[in-house]
Amino acid sequence: TGMFTYDPGYTSTGSCESAITYIDGDQGILLHRGYPIQDLATNCSFLEVAYLLLEGELPTPEQYGTFEHAITHHTMVHEQIHKFLEGFRRDAHPMAVMCGIVGGLAGFYHDSTDISNPHHRMIASHRLIAKMPTIAAWAYKYSMGQPLIYPRNCLTYAEDLLHMLFAVPCEEYKVNPVLAKAMDRILILHADHEQNASTSTVRLTGSSGANPFACIAAGIASLWGPAHGGANEAVLNMLSEIGSKDNVSACVKRAKDKDDSFRLMGFGHRVYKNYDPRAKIMAQTCHEVLEELGIKDPLLDVALELERIALEDDYFVEKKLYPNVDFYSGIIFRAMNIPVSMFTGMFAVARTTGWVAQWNEMVTDPAQKIGRPRQLYTGPTQRAFVPFDKR
Ligand code: CMC
Repeated sequence: TGMFTYDPGYTSTGSCESAITYIDGDQGILLHRGYPIQDLATNCSFLEVAYLLLEGELPTPEQYGTFEHAITHHTMVHEQIHKFLEGFRRDAHPMAVMCGIVGGLAGFYHDSTDISNPHHRMIASHRLIAKMPTIAAWAYKYSMGQPLIYPRNCLTYAEDLLHMLFAVPCEEYKVNPVLAKAMDRILILHADHEQNASTSTVRLTGSSGANPFACIAAGIASLWGPAHGGANEAVLNMLSEIGSKDNVSACVKRAKDKDDSFRLMGFGHRVYKNYDPRAKIMAQTCHEVLEELGIKDPLLDVALELERIALEDDYFVEKKLYPNVDFYSGIIFRAMNIPVSMFTGMFAVARTTGWVAQWNEMVTDPAQKIGRPRQLYTGPTQRAFVPFDKR
């Protein structure tokens, strides 16, 4: 190709330098700023991890207090956004609502357009992380035809998200601590994952100097697809379709059939050719939540059977297709009563911290240029123009 390499899907293209997340896909290792995901998921709160991604270091208690204050004091969204929300049809997918609303925020914060100013960048970053749970919960409440619940700044990030999703006016709602802890862990496990499709989209969008709210809206759009964040929704739909343990082997057979485009949702990863370390923690959390809530979910039996067969099957072993993070998160969400259509929205809430950290890193990188991939042209060579009346 002469001047450039043809690399569809960018499987061998490094598009940036980054000091945020390290993945060793063969070993199944994931580090954020050098810390193993297992340590972060079991010892930190989500906001500690958000601070780590954004600032590069784990916060001291004092830094944490300041950061938590900044986030909890940006959780409200403008009342005009409430009106904007009501412009959507009731049955709009929550990801469509989130994409629209987050993009729309660019029209509310004019300071965010000046991305050369570090203070403006930081406020935009805090606003995005803070408002995302409110927007996600409102998208859900609106779809249910229930009154919107406003954020409560005395709650933790995960508690507030659950509260805005499930509280109803005039009734006391106490957040179950087991669910809050599980939600916090899910948020940590989804917080960042280096240059995946949505993060690369945020970077590419931002590389032109675009408004950060618009960049994150682009990330949400990319995340929505079933090959990416939409997989958690697809996993649950697939498990429901399989219905019982007895039907699992037929489904595995279909997934292996070259002439059938069906894939096992929640299996395989572009980078991990070993067990996704997040999936291990997610599986453990899943069992804890179901046990604590006393839930016996038949879909979990289907999932376990699917995992067992797939991990032993030559096709999956040879292609190194392991369960990924989305395989178990759906079952936990289901136990929490979060509807399937909101699963990817939960992922978007968590990934916003990663997107924002990566966007800040890109904007301040002296090597940063506008993203401009090349192409292999496959159309006609130059030819003579045919006038309208001669065609
Ligand atoms: N079920 C059956 N076969 C599969 C699957 C699967 N889930 N995933 C990959 N394969 C096969 C695929 O058919 C191909 O076979 P062959 O070499 O014979 O043509 C081979 O494995 C390699 O697949 P690929 O599509 O070239 O790999 P990729 O790196 O482009 O795709 C993936 C990665 C995650 C999109 C893919 O594994 C997939 O579609 N998985 C199901 C959807 C899913 O769970 N996505 C969530 C990803 S993790 C969270 C996130 O990123 O948001």
